[in-house]
Amino acid sequence: MTGKRVRPAEASHEQVAASLTSSVSVHYEDLLAPVYAWMMGGAEAAIARGREELAQAGLLDGRIRYAVDLGAGFGMHSIPLAQTGARILAIDSSALLLKELDAHASGAGIVLAQDDLRRFARHLHDRPDLVLCMGDTLAHLPDRSSVRKLVTTVAERLAPDGRFLVSFRDYSVTREGTDRFFSVRSDEQRLLTCFLEFGAETVRVHDMLHEFREGAWQMRVSAYRKLRLAPQWVEAQFEQCGLTVTTVVGPPGMVRFLGTRA
Ligand SMILES: C[S@@+](CC[C@H](N)C(=O)[O-])C[C@H]1O[C@@H](n2cnc3c(N)ncnc32)[C@H](O)[C@@H]1O
Repeated sequence: MTGKRVRPAEASHEQVAASLTSSVSVHYEDLLAPVYAWMMGGAEAAIARGREELAQAGLLDGRIRYAVDLGAGFGMHSIPLAQTGARILAIDSSALLLKELDAHASGAGIVLAQDDLRRFARHLHDRPDLVLCMGDTLAHLPDRSSVRKLVTTVAERLAPDGRFLVSFRDYSVTREGTDRFFSVRSDEQRLLTCFLEFGAETVRVHDMLHEFREGAWQMRVSAYRKLRLAPQWVEAQFEQCGLTVTTVVGPPGMVRFLGTRA
């Protein structure tokens, strides 16, 4: 790489934000993306759960014509939505996850974009009836101002009566001591353990992956930062952008808001 090295004290807000976003994509590339579908209990089961989530939010009645999935991953929401006849723009920074999405979608009308989700507007070719940002993707953004900007842009771009569904993990309560460790998934070949390190505004997520290869357990560790988003704060951003919020019941620990453009 060429160019001037930026010392932290000199880095602009944009430069810090860009390097945090790149630490997320490096984490996915190095460790998480290849095992993401496994971590979610397998793609088929996860897509069935995504279908259930969308049905609970009343979004599978066939009235969505054009939707955007921000941080689409391997398509656990894009795919069931596309099966109702909607056209989908699925955007993600991980080439591997988009490739998996494409393989599972088997010809459904999904356009893929490998890009930073904050640039979604440049990929639109219509006003979406629905924008999704699911599975704690919102917390992957580098700072609160990026979240605020994203909500603003989504609200501006939505069709009249368009909806914005987000789900994110409530990290507002600090975990301490051994409560910061939890097993995400394990089987005979793999163990994924997570360790959370709480800061005031962010939580550093350390993923430890053990894989049984050639007769021995091998460990890899990678970490990235997530925002500690309080539900009340996210709700306030929606309301300030003219999105009326309904809370959709979901699994414990996750918050789901459906914002509707007035
Ligand atoms: C926790 S996963 C959620 C995936 C999917 N929405 C789900 O519910 O399973 C977060 C996804 O967002 C993607 N991602 C994170 N930050 C991103 C960014 N700034 N731009 C694009 N994709 C991003 C990751 O590559 C990953 O696929």
